[in-house]
Amino acid sequence: MWNRILEFAQRGYRAVSAKTVIDVSRSPLRPLIERAEFDRRIASLRESLRADESPDILHDLQSPIALEAHKFAWYQRIRIPNTRAFTTSDRTRHGIDDPGWLNRAGNALSAVEGSLLRPLPKWAYLQEMLPDLSGKSVMEIGSNNGFFCFEFAERGARKVTGVDLLDQYVSPAQWMVSARGDKNVSFLRTNALLDLTLEPHQVVFMSETYTHFIDPLLGILRALNLAQETLIIDGPALTYGATQLNFDIFRNGEGGPPTYLTWTLSDGLMLGFLSVCGIEPERVTRFVSPLRNHRVYLVDTTDLAASRRRNAYGGSDFLDFGFKTGRPAS
Ligand SMILES: C[S@@+](CC[C@H](N)C(=O)[O-])C[C@H]1O[C@@H](n2cnc3c(N)ncnc32)[C@H](O)[C@@H]1O
Repeated sequence: MWNRILEFAQRGYRAVSAKTVIDVSRSPLRPLIERAEFDRRIASLRESLRADESPDILHDLQSPIALEAHKFAWYQRIRIPNTRAFTTSDRTRHGIDDPGWLNRAGNALSAVEGSLLRPLPKWAYLQEMLPDLSGKSVMEIGSNNGFFCFEFAERGARKVTGVDLLDQYVSPAQWMVSARGDKNVSFLRTNALLDLTLEPHQVVFMSETYTHFIDPLLGILRALNLAQETLIIDGPALTYGATQLNFDIFRNGEGGPPTYLTWTLSDGLMLGFLSVCGIEPERVTRFVSPLRNHRVYLVDTTDLAASRRRNAYGGSDFLDFGFKTGRPAS
């Protein structure tokens, strides 16, 4: 036992106070777009909804491909191939629900507008921080109907894999792949937390997804272990340096059964947890949305295998969860 204590002392193990887990200022903080430009983009998105009532789009909604698209219920607004219509252009078919704060651009859009436009209001600024995807393999966790996956393919990604838990989202996404004729985009219906057969990709992207995992920290670790070069995590902002976790339960009516849950991590908890997983804060760039209600973390994972070896937690593999070595040399 004395040898073990001596070894710990030599390796510099020290007790740390929970209050000083991480210095968040070690992670660079950058704006996404200017507020005036954001307001202009949101106004133009709202205006674009008016076109849904135009004779051209009403005509295209009767085309065979649009009628086929409408065999599915759509959560995201995606253009129906070879038409001027979108998956949410037909209001009579589209269910309106809570689009959340991010897709309402704060309160700039109504709940109806946010539901019809989702996820374009977020995309208005998220697209500004994407790395160059050309030639890359990209995985989206929580890919829903595939909006972001199709955008990644259009930006030149070599291979795009969307992963989502629910068939009601994955089936329309798969239909859209065949309608668009994409050869390099595919969707898997599986639980990203538990499915250890998922293959690593160079870039892994999650938008408002860790927030709805049954366990947000395990989900972030899984995503990290799948990202060979870059992990992008986005969700609502809790900008404190302290380690803090917020938890909300949404119910069907007052006192009714839970319908979904939302976790939100503070910057301190996100950066602290990532450092436990082998990512120091300098490797994380934090992006601030124009309304400051949204945090996007761009995580450089290229050093992860080496960092895990350096901080081996006494040789334990408790961080492994599907982590495959054979990553690019760092
Ligand atoms: C709020 S939606 C966000 C959808 C999309 N990323 C967007 O921003 O529009 C969360 C998505 O995560 C998916 N999801 C939740 N838990 C998951 C899990 N364990 N594995 C895979 N997908 C999951 C849900 O089915 C849902 O499509």
